[in-house]
Amino acid sequence: GVTREYWLSVEEGSCAPDGYARQCQTVNGTVPGPTIIADWGDSLVIHVTNNLKSNGTAIHWHGLRQSGSNIYDGVPGITQCAIAIGQSMTYRFKVTQYGSSWYHSHFSLQYANGAFGGIVFNGPATSNYDEDLGHLFLSDWSHVDIFTRWFAARNGQPPALESGLINGTNKYDCSNSTTDPNCTGRGVKLTTVVEKGKKYRLRLVNAAVDGVFQFSIDKHKLKVIAADLVPIKPYSTSSLKITEGQRYDIIFHANQAVDNYWIRAGWLNACQPNEHPDSITSVLRYNASSTLDPTTTSDVTVSSDCLDEPLASLVPHVKIDVTNIQKSFDTYLNISKQVDYIHWTINTSSLVIDWANPTLKQVFNGESLFPTEYNVLAVNKTTTDNEWIVLVIQDQSNLNLEHPIHLHGHDFWILDQSTGTFDAATSPKNFKTKNPARRDVAALPGNGYLAIAFMPDNPGAWLCHCHIAWHASEGLSLEFLERRADIKADVSDSDLTQFNDICQTWSDSVG
Ligand code: C2O
Repeated sequence: GVTREYWLSVEEGSCAPDGYARQCQTVNGTVPGPTIIADWGDSLVIHVTNNLKSNGTAIHWHGLRQSGSNIYDGVPGITQCAIAIGQSMTYRFKVTQYGSSWYHSHFSLQYANGAFGGIVFNGPATSNYDEDLGHLFLSDWSHVDIFTRWFAARNGQPPALESGLINGTNKYDCSNSTTDPNCTGRGVKLTTVVEKGKKYRLRLVNAAVDGVFQFSIDKHKLKVIAADLVPIKPYSTSSLKITEGQRYDIIFHANQAVDNYWIRAGWLNACQPNEHPDSITSVLRYNASSTLDPTTTSDVTVSSDCLDEPLASLVPHVKIDVTNIQKSFDTYLNISKQVDYIHWTINTSSLVIDWANPTLKQVFNGESLFPTEYNVLAVNKTTTDNEWIVLVIQDQSNLNLEHPIHLHGHDFWILDQSTGTFDAATSPKNFKTKNPARRDVAALPGNGYLAIAFMPDNPGAWLCHCHIAWHASEGLSLEFLERRADIKADVSDSDLTQFNDICQTWSDSVG
C-alpha cells in the first residue's frame, strides 16, 4: 500500500443547499466535503484544521476499526481533546477495511450543520458493475443553525426539520414563504445521468440528524452488496430502509425505458413523533431523455416500522458460542426530564466526559478513570478462545422510538433485535448465533432490545452511542475501555506529543 495525504478544513460560512440561505459548517466549504479515497492496505495521513469562528472540532472516521490507532478515532473527551480554533491535527491510520463509509465532525452537532464527507476504500471486487457513481448522502436539513434548534427544543419534543438533502442539494418550495428573504427558491435537485443497459454502483449513507429513510428508485430494482463496511450475500429489493449512520452499497441496472425517474429518500414517519419533509428526492436521468422533472410514481409499499433490513453477512462465517460468554452487559435505557434538559440514561446514569482530560489522557497518565456509574465499562482479554462480549440494551423509555446504536472500533454481530422485554434466562435461546449480520450501526427497536456481540480484540477507548444527533449529547452513550493495559503500546512518541499539544491548546483556549 501507499501513503495518501489529505487536507480538511472545518469551516463556516453561508450556504443554501436547498435554496434557503443560512450559516453552515462544512469541510472544505462544501456539503458534503471532499471524498477520502484509498485502497485496502494503504496508509492515510489526514490534516484537519479548525477554521471555525467558535468552538472546537474533531473528525471521526465512521466505521473504521482503527486497530492500533484508537488515538485517531476523533472523539473529543474520549480519544482526544477538541482541536482549538486555528489549530491543526494530523490523523494517521491504516486502511484495513474496504467499502463505503463517511467521516463527520464528532464535536456535538456540527455534522448536522454540514460537516461531513465520504470515504471510499477500494478492495477486492465482490460484484460486477459498469460504473461507480460514488456516494449518495441522504440527510434531513434545518433552515437555521442546528444548535439553535436543539437548545430551543431540548426539554420537549425534538424539532422537526424543514427540509432534506441528497448529496447536499435539493429544491425547497418557497411558495409559502414569499416574504422570507432567505428563501430564494433557487435550490436544485441532484441529477444522476445514466446510460440504458449499464449497471451502476451507489454508496448510500444516512447522514440524518434524526430520521430513518426508505430508499428507492422508481421502477428500478436494487441489488444490495454491502452493509456498512461489510460485504453481504447480495439480494435484490425494490426499497431499502436505512438508519442514521448506516451505509449500503447497491447496484442498479438501468434497464427501463429511456426517461426520468425519481430517486427517493422516503421519510419514515412511523418511528417519529413529528411531521417531516416528504420530498427528499433526486433525479435519475437516462442520457437521451428530456430535462423535465420525472413524472414517475413509486410502487413501493411504505414500511410501517423503522427496523433494520434483515441481513446475512458474507464473510467471515462465525458461530458465536453464547454458552461461554466472557462478559455480558445488560443495560437499561431511560429518559428523564431535568429542569432545563432531557437526559437519556443507561442504567440510571449518563456518560460523563471531561473535555480537558479525555479518557486516553487519563490512560496515558495512569490516572484513575471514571467509575462504572459514569457508563465507562471495562473490557479485558482472558486466555480462553471464547471471548465474546455481549451487550444487551433494553429500551424502557416507553416512547416507542427507534435508536440507531453505533459502536466505535468494532463491527458487531447482531444477536437479536426484538420488540419485547429481555429476559436473561430465556431470551438468549432466541439469539441468532450462526453467521449473524455484522455491521457497525443497528436499530434498537422502540420499547424493545438490541443484543450485540463483539470480541475484545482492539485495545482502546470506544464510544457506543445513539446516532440520532442530539441523543448522544443528551447522554445516550456509553464507553468501553477495552484492554486498558494494552492501549499505550500502539502510541508512538510523535502521536503522544501531538496528543498533548492538542490538549494543551484546547485547555488554553477555554481558559
Ligand atoms: Cu458516526 Cu460516534 O459516530
